[in-house]
Amino acid sequence: MIDGRAREIDHLRLSLIDHCNLACRYCVPEGARPSRQMIDASFAFELVRWLSRYHGVRHVRLTGGEPLLYPDLIPLVRRLASLAQLNEVTLTTNGQALTQKATALCEAGLSRINVSLDTLNPDRFAHVTRGGRVEHTLRGIEATIKAGLTPVKLNMVVQRGLNDDEIVDAARWGLELGCVVRFLEVMPIGPLAHVIDDHLVPASEILDKLSEAYRLVPIPQSPGQPAVDYAATSGTSRGVIGIIAPTTRPFCERCRRIRITSHGAMVVCVHDSRCLDLADCWDGRRLDEHRANEVLKTAIMDKPAQGSRSQSLTMIALGG
Ligand code: 5AD
Repeated sequence: MIDGRAREIDHLRLSLIDHCNLACRYCVPEGARPSRQMIDASFAFELVRWLSRYHGVRHVRLTGGEPLLYPDLIPLVRRLASLAQLNEVTLTTNGQALTQKATALCEAGLSRINVSLDTLNPDRFAHVTRGGRVEHTLRGIEATIKAGLTPVKLNMVVQRGLNDDEIVDAARWGLELGCVVRFLEVMPIGPLAHVIDDHLVPASEILDKLSEAYRLVPIPQSPGQPAVDYAATSGTSRGVIGIIAPTTRPFCERCRRIRITSHGAMVVCVHDSRCLDLADCWDGRRLDEHRANEVLKTAIMDKPAQGSRSQSLTMIALGG
């Protein structure tokens, strides 16, 4: 599928539920109450089948809120993994409930997992996530590796004054376990856009800090990959470290994504408030593909060349 600006679109981020068991400060506004909306599992499956069969979607990432809270997750992964045209079914999680689910996800055919881990420090983790327990996520990562769902990718959103002194420690911890460790700039999204004013640590600074501890050799990027990855070595520690810089080095011209929210809305750009309703195309049993094609065509033709920074939805609703 080619959008109005000649970009090939083959990635779908599918938010299954807009509820999360954490409330990270850069993702969830103070006092926000998610609607606990979940997408119907058959609707989700039919959407992916339609997009992969007729429209070239090859990679689906399941997100939330927190996708591990979605009751039908394992059977849905199993069904998605059986779709011939799909190359990958991946998932992004905070890892709090991963210990219990890792083996089942692996057996259901999930391709890979990204785990959000902003700090290794229990008190900081509880602060940043408003009440999370870091040991649950750390055990979840270990369980995932044991289950063989590797390499696990760790996402650390670097924030000034919160965790910017932990960059090298996080890299060391993750590489030791064989994880790919990715550092993300905080993004100005929706009602929380102002957090970047206080907390943005630019990619250049993250890279400088890592370069003091590691020799970093860039690895060529695959299409649609927002991260710049490096082969990292330091003494006996080696592995892959990546940097994702949506704020100082936006990758809009290489964007290959569309999103569907747990409300059944198609969102073509994380920075743009426009969303198109697909829920109307679902009667509880069948996807009206004709109507869905019309929605998709409008969405794809209107996908902005660059994010306009006009998003009103919160990140927890958009799925990260
Ligand atoms: N900026 C950068 N990353 C974010 N995420 C959520 N909100 C933001 C933001 N404002 C990340 C989470 C998780 C992924 C789903 O998106 O940390 O790794």
